[in-house]
Amino acid sequence: MTRRSPDSLRSARWFAPDDFRSFGHRSRVLQMGYGYDDWMGKPVIAIVNTWSDANQCHAHFKHRVEDVKRGILQAGGFPLELPAISLSESMVKPTTMLYRNFLAMETEELLRSHPVDGAVLMGGCDKTTPGLTMGALSMGIPFLYLPAGPMLRGNWKGKVLGSGSDAFKYWDERRAGRLGEQAWSEMEAGIARSHGTCMTMGTAATMMGIAEAVGLTLPGASSIPAPDANHIRMSAECGRRIVEMVWEDLTPARLLTRANFENGIACAMAMGCSTNAIVHLIAMSRRAGHPVSLDDFDAASRRVPVIANIRPSGDAYLMEDFFYAGGLRAMLERIRGHLKTEALTVNGKTLGENIAGAEVYHDDVIRPLANPIYAEGALAVLRGNLAPDGVVIKPSACAPHLLRHTGRALVFDDYPALKKAVEDPELDVTGDDILVLRNAGPRGAGMPEWGMLPIPTKLLQQGVKDMLRLSDARMSGTSYGGCLLHCSPEAAVGGPLALVKTGDRISVDVPARRIHLEVSDEELDARRAAWTPPPPRYERGYGWMFGRHIKQANEGCDFDFLETSFGRAVPEPDI
Ligand code: FES
Ligand code: MG
Repeated sequence: MTRRSPDSLRSARWFAPDDFRSFGHRSRVLQMGYGYDDWMGKPVIAIVNTWSDANQCHAHFKHRVEDVKRGILQAGGFPLELPAISLSESMVKPTTMLYRNFLAMETEELLRSHPVDGAVLMGGCDKTTPGLTMGALSMGIPFLYLPAGPMLRGNWKGKVLGSGSDAFKYWDERRAGRLGEQAWSEMEAGIARSHGTCMTMGTAATMMGIAEAVGLTLPGASSIPAPDANHIRMSAECGRRIVEMVWEDLTPARLLTRANFENGIACAMAMGCSTNAIVHLIAMSRRAGHPVSLDDFDAASRRVPVIANIRPSGDAYLMEDFFYAGGLRAMLERIRGHLKTEALTVNGKTLGENIAGAEVYHDDVIRPLANPIYAEGALAVLRGNLAPDGVVIKPSACAPHLLRHTGRALVFDDYPALKKAVEDPELDVTGDDILVLRNAGPRGAGMPEWGMLPIPTKLLQQGVKDMLRLSDARMSGTSYGGCLLHCSPEAAVGGPLALVKTGDRISVDVPARRIHLEVSDEELDARRAAWTPPPPRYERGYGWMFGRHIKQANEGCDFDFLETSFGRAVPEPDI
């Protein structure tokens, strides 16, 4: 492999010339207390750190960043920590989805505007994995991703608790009057008991695993629990490796092909992934110039079984168990036949080499292919007159009797109306009905995680545990149930979802991948002619820009102007 020379480094454009601008750059690095030997002629490595006091999942990044720096220094690089917006999934309102592209933009511009040759990206909480990697992919310098890792298992009264999934489950118990205040607050104190991301197979674990399968992390990085000493060592290893990646000039353009993203999809299916994987992986692949689509996901879901027995698709285990059972490398080795093993990864080896010989230590946590959790993959994509550009469901987390079902629509135009109605003991609803929420898509509301519409209290008290629910929203990766999500085009841009009325019949056939609104074309045309778009949610600021430039869910919800294919490439800074 040819190696770059120090004077060919991007950062040399800042520091090497004998001119007035470079005098300024050099004197200011000296001002920080670094001597020439610390940085001249060395790869400058940005550490894009999404630590903040408001992000519980990244609390350890305050310390881990020092370990990354240690590795960079050991390998002869010069680290520069560049903090970026943190995006705590549990703190940010109205939804972190509003800010994923903001982080992507910030990452790209941080890397472009500073004298850096390579980057370590530190993220993990849901939107941070796609946000960071999308930006770095567009920027194009060598980078690798350090996942935060999952938190430890929750614990309450000797029971194991899983992030999100158990909160939803016990909240329904509380609403049904079966769980008192004392028990509820004890549960609150036991469900999240270390730093690190949600430890169910939610969006965080899903996206960290996908990043590894795509080849953007060092082998095994995504499965290490955040508090484990292995995570400290992995952080230093990331620092050492990125310096070498710069010398090798291992840019994303030289690293990635479509095969990398196909591996991400296969991995997602086997993990029993979050539905959000679809939106984020599509966006990442488009940034890399190797677009995958809903059809690729659906085709993979017909082939690759769910073998990770992790909640909510699985019934028993959490990410900590997954790590002890061998972690992602072991799972990928089990689905080797579904992978493009020749795809390169950031350590310079192929995915096939990285997973070779990885053993499963617990066959109930990572199942053999012959004994899967779910014989098909985690996600299915349905189409029909109600969703010409697709609607997504997680069949593995849905009651089997709902997979083929026709019911009466009960339609809500906004979430507050829905929230109020579900508490109404007089609500005209049965478990056979289909709850519909609209104007919650990308343009309508920034696509919040409202898609697991609450089952009406009246039905919970009757013992109804699942029902079909349809929306243009997303749902948390830790959610479950018969939720049809990401309905595209969304209602706010005039998609057919905008035309449904309470009392219409909707049929859903997951095995046939079909969703149909049983209303004639003539009637739908008449309703369309009478439809007026809802007023924009934001009339100034970032939200205004978001509403004008956000793409639909089936295209990954990127901003049109951020897609790598938009316009000519951004030039390097002139002076
Ligand atoms: Fe951060 Fe769930 S809240 S990963
Ligand atoms: Mg989540």
